[in-house]
Amino acid sequence: MKNGKRVRRDESPSDMSSRGLAGQAPISSFSCPSFSWPLLSSLFSVYTKGVLKVAKRQKNVYFAIYIKTEGCETHIETVLECARITQFVEVLVFGAGAIGSFFGALLSQRHDVTLIGRAEHISAIKSRGLRVRGKTAIIAKPHAAIRVPRTASPDFVFVTTKSYDTANAILALRPFADRAIFVTLQNGLGNAETIAKTARRVVAGTTTHGVTFVGPGEIRHAGIGETVLGAWSGVDESDLVRLRDLLADVGIVASVTSDIRTELWSKLVVNTSINPIAALAELPNGRIVRDKHLLAVVEMVCREATEVAKAEGARVDQEELRHRTLLVAKRTAANRASMLQDLDRHHRTEIDAITGSIVRAAKRHRIPVPLNAALYALVRARETEFRPTSAVNVRDQSL
Ligand code: PAF
Repeated sequence: MKNGKRVRRDESPSDMSSRGLAGQAPISSFSCPSFSWPLLSSLFSVYTKGVLKVAKRQKNVYFAIYIKTEGCETHIETVLECARITQFVEVLVFGAGAIGSFFGALLSQRHDVTLIGRAEHISAIKSRGLRVRGKTAIIAKPHAAIRVPRTASPDFVFVTTKSYDTANAILALRPFADRAIFVTLQNGLGNAETIAKTARRVVAGTTTHGVTFVGPGEIRHAGIGETVLGAWSGVDESDLVRLRDLLADVGIVASVTSDIRTELWSKLVVNTSINPIAALAELPNGRIVRDKHLLAVVEMVCREATEVAKAEGARVDQEELRHRTLLVAKRTAANRASMLQDLDRHHRTEIDAITGSIVRAAKRHRIPVPLNAALYALVRARETEFRPTSAVNVRDQSL
């Protein structure tokens, strides 16, 4: 493109339907000041949409043809005709907390989704639907149950329980261990390892969407984040791309990485730098980076944790992780971090899987992490007064 800055965009029906709906930025990132994409894309993009039947599995396939456009401030041109076929899939979301409910709600707009969660939340969803407020505003109607239905045959199983419940969750999910692709988006380390002991095909992922559990049947999408997916075991790039496209189609922008361990460590550093401080200060994420005294603590915790991540072989950089932590806190400024929500609701926190993972690894490498160690001790002291038990009922495998 000779004139002006080059921009690129794949416009598809799903891009259009998700814009505004999920409150997300358009799927492809671009920079072209004073450029009105919605206007231009509506002028230049053409699409048709149909429904096909797949004889073998009797499942619907959404079929979309769209025109890929490239342009700049003065010019736009069609460069490639693309077709995307999104299969209608069955998804089981095990752990309908804030993040599980969010992914389940959005996926249920196109797919057959069953959310497994606690009784009060499930009965509210069954009677009134699942209300998502904030950056995304929809009322979703997924199937909802307190235990895995016998008839379930999911293509994807999203494990979104708290990390201390992963081992029990997998007991309930064993019937799908050979066939389904298991996806973990949980905080902390060790979840993918635990799932892969039983399930054959595992995708590990991270997400920095800020979602608050408001009450039964209702969540608030308080901050837009990023979702990153990587192969853990038994999956290849085409599985990751398929999952990424399923998410993109419902307005959840995701990317694929070939180094998921570095991504998990990076997310761990972000969590360990935000969650315990937000939990103890009882402040939403934005406030802990606006207050200069708390910001100094966030930065020191982040520095300690990044040293540990490096020693564990993650390819991370101090400055990049400091920047990422502050960016996540700012983008999710209105969110109460999950650890704060846990304390608010008198639930056990994920301090052991988050800060505990840093403290244990630091000990192995003889790296001093005094601030992380202090936060670990303080949050543990706060949570001992709350229920220490798992949310998964092992005997009847309900949540
Ligand atoms: O645990 C959380 O709350 C989230 O992972 C994050 C990204 C810190 C946003 O609040």
